Amino acid sequence: MSKVYELKHPLIQHKLSILRSRKTGVKEFRELISEISGLMCYEATRNLPVEEVMVQTPVAQAKCYKLAGKKLAIIPILRAGLGMVDAMLDLIPSAKVGHIGLYRDPETHMPVEYYCKLPEDIGKRQVFVVDPMLATGGSAIAAIDFLKQHGCKQIIMMNVIGCPEGVKAVQDAHPDVDIYVAAIDEKLNEHAYIVPGLGDAGDRIFGTK
Ligand code: PRP
Ligand code: URA
Repeated sequence: MSKVYELKHPLIQHKLSILRSRKTGVKEFRELISEISGLMCYEATRNLPVEEVMVQTPVAQAKCYKLAGKKLAIIPILRAGLGMVDAMLDLIPSAKVGHIGLYRDPETHMPVEYYCKLPEDIGKRQVFVVDPMLATGGSAIAAIDFLKQHGCKQIIMMNVIGCPEGVKAVQDAHPDVDIYVAAIDEKLNEHAYIVPGLGDAGDRIFGTK
């Protein structure tokens, strides 16, 4: 079974308290999603392999460690996942970026695919799938299915807000995929929205409602 890491860091919790508020406007919401994503990226990359290198400082030789040639890719689930990409790239600037476009059918809540473009060598990369919301888990599962069809073997899921239903669904469908989530909320409501959640992440990032 995969591991689920709920990141109860004080900085993340503080930022989440502002992010969730209905009073928070689009500019601040976007900035907070980005800041939280950067902090989450720090945690989600914790187990990347490193290799020893010797570096000549102005004083002496220093034994240092650099990322061990691991190729990385960031895969946002459109639209809302786009809000997490820049902060990830600030920290891992050589990562490639692929896009998976999915929206939830408002009636069935099932994901509908409308766009996919992945780096050619995606199957050789450690992939980070990013999406602020993990609700029913349908979108995450569909995105991971798609990546596995393209040969991906090492996949990490990153969500800002999740819920027990979505976490369980992803774990059941993809027991090899670890999940990093800033907060696991109480439940889904009858419209498959996360309670208390933060509303519609895509609309709040892009100001569409
Ligand atoms: C939201 C969110 C996830 C999905 C989560 O996207 O960003 O992709 O819903 O729900 P699920 O776990 O039940 O699949 P939405 O479909 O609203 O599209 P958007 O990002 O374009 O707003
Ligand atoms: N998508 C969102 O943006 N918010 C939710 O609460 C559920 C799905």
